[in-house]
Amino acid sequence: MILTEEEKREAVEKSRKILSRHDSSKGSLIPVLQEVQSALGYVPPDAMQEVAGHFNIPSVDVYGVVTFYNQFRLTPPGKNQVKLCMGTACHMRGAGIIMESWERVLSIKVGETTLDREFSLERVACVGCCTLAPVAVVNETVHGKMTPTKVDGMLFSHRLANPQQKEDKPE
Ligand code: FES
Repeated sequence: MILTEEEKREAVEKSRKILSRHDSSKGSLIPVLQEVQSALGYVPPDAMQEVAGHFNIPSVDVYGVVTFYNQFRLTPPGKNQVKLCMGTACHMRGAGIIMESWERVLSIKVGETTLDREFSLERVACVGCCTLAPVAVVNETVHGKMTPTKVDGMLFSHRLANPQQKEDKPE
């Protein structure tokens, strides 16, 4: 995903501000990345570079940490965040098929954001509504007993309500 100059500048400024409050001991790396993620919603390359410089480690090492932990995002979250529960109950009731349906209708993979930034897709652990499995949480709304048809319907309704929106394309 291509970031604007303004987004890159914001990433650098916010990362520097966060880093100024931390020492360069290795134990601070994860807390710093968590703060960057909470300030920006994701951990962009420019932020990783700043972090690498602060800890005096190669950027690829920071990238390795960010990609190792599920909690970190590499792309900006979409305007509509679709969280797919992959807890045991949802998994047993076909969460994998629901995930494939979302990936198909949005033309992105889990962890990605559509090019128009309208939707992002992520997997989450149990959201506490197991009786409704399989569950998807769109923004803050829980949608239970998901089926591929329901996924199609939800996206169709969204497009009807947002006629200016073009077809989602992969990043
Ligand atoms: S496992 Fe999905 S809501 Fe509990």
